[in-house]
Amino acid sequence: MDSRYEEILARYKEHDSGLLTLGIETSCDDTSASVVRGSSDVLAVCTNSQIELHSTYGGVVPELASRDHVKNLYPVVTEALRQAGIQASELSAIAVTAQPGLLGALLTGLNFAKGMAMALGIPFVGVNHIFGHICANYISAPELKSPFICLVASGGHTQYIHVTSEYGYEILGGTCDDAAGEALDKIARALGLGYPGGPLLEQLAKEGNPKAYSFRSAFNMKDSPDMSFSGIKTAAVNLMHNARQTGRELPAADIAASFQAEIVHTLVSKLVLMAKKTGIDRIAIAGGVTANGLLRSELERAAKMNRLELYCPEKKYCTDNGAMIACAGYRMLAAGRASALDLDADAND
Ligand code: KG4
Ligand code: ZN
Repeated sequence: MDSRYEEILARYKEHDSGLLTLGIETSCDDTSASVVRGSSDVLAVCTNSQIELHSTYGGVVPELASRDHVKNLYPVVTEALRQAGIQASELSAIAVTAQPGLLGALLTGLNFAKGMAMALGIPFVGVNHIFGHICANYISAPELKSPFICLVASGGHTQYIHVTSEYGYEILGGTCDDAAGEALDKIARALGLGYPGGPLLEQLAKEGNPKAYSFRSAFNMKDSPDMSFSGIKTAAVNLMHNARQTGRELPAADIAASFQAEIVHTLVSKLVLMAKKTGIDRIAIAGGVTANGLLRSELERAAKMNRLELYCPEKKYCTDNGAMIACAGYRMLAAGRASALDLDADAND
């Protein structure tokens, strides 16, 4: 490696606030690029959502997602650089989601990032998407210090994570089956709401009675981080199905509100439980589901009641975005964890 490359790596280790990291995210259905200065100063984010592309099918079609990323990576990255007011040659390093996610989708971003880093002769780092979500917290709260307990709730994951240091973390537990977002999306689909279901279900739930139906699960009341959403999802679907068989249509808003209430209750109560069990009074949230308004207000209430220090990323940084990947990449590079250019993508955690 040449001296410029080595010099950049040294500057990351010194936490130089002038470093410019490009973050690229293509693990699912968003092509997103962002330029971040220093550890968490977001200069630009450009995202192309594939919602329209997949909505006809009611969910993400992996092959279509990969092809759309291929088409959009160049314009999205170019636009992020333009918004940041910089040339590609001014970038210090490139961070990209390398795992977990849809394999084909991951490979598009990974290869784009590698080619760009190679051409520019700058460091490249593959980032874990979940660690990326956690790092969204540093954008609005650069002062956030470890240790803290983070709830990561997205379309593919629902986990409680003990963030032990700038780069280190351990998974305390989480869902045994469906992720919270996956369950919300499926109920939204059963209600005919479209894709992605979480935000649409949240809107509908505002008009419904959260106590109309009980989807409480005994498993989710256990004194542990483990939870299950598959059973309550089936219960809700069966309820609607049985009513339809007798010619009745249950009030959709009541189903939405009751189902959302149970998911939120489980996620919030277990985050408080994890804080108590570990004795760590700093908590944070991350992932698309944590953009949910009820979840955020219930968490605020619970944090106040239990004297916990709560950190919430802005809603736009809860769902997939390149800025969180750039922030995570910065931390990895600061910890001396640049990736080699033969890094492979991994669909799993
Ligand atoms: O983190 P994310 O953008 O992508 C993954 O890594 O999966 O999360 C997407 C998930 C979807 O299931 C979506 O329905 C859910 O987050 N979601 C929401 C809200 N916004 C997005 N769920 C509930 N309320 C919302 N406002
Ligand atoms: Zn995500």
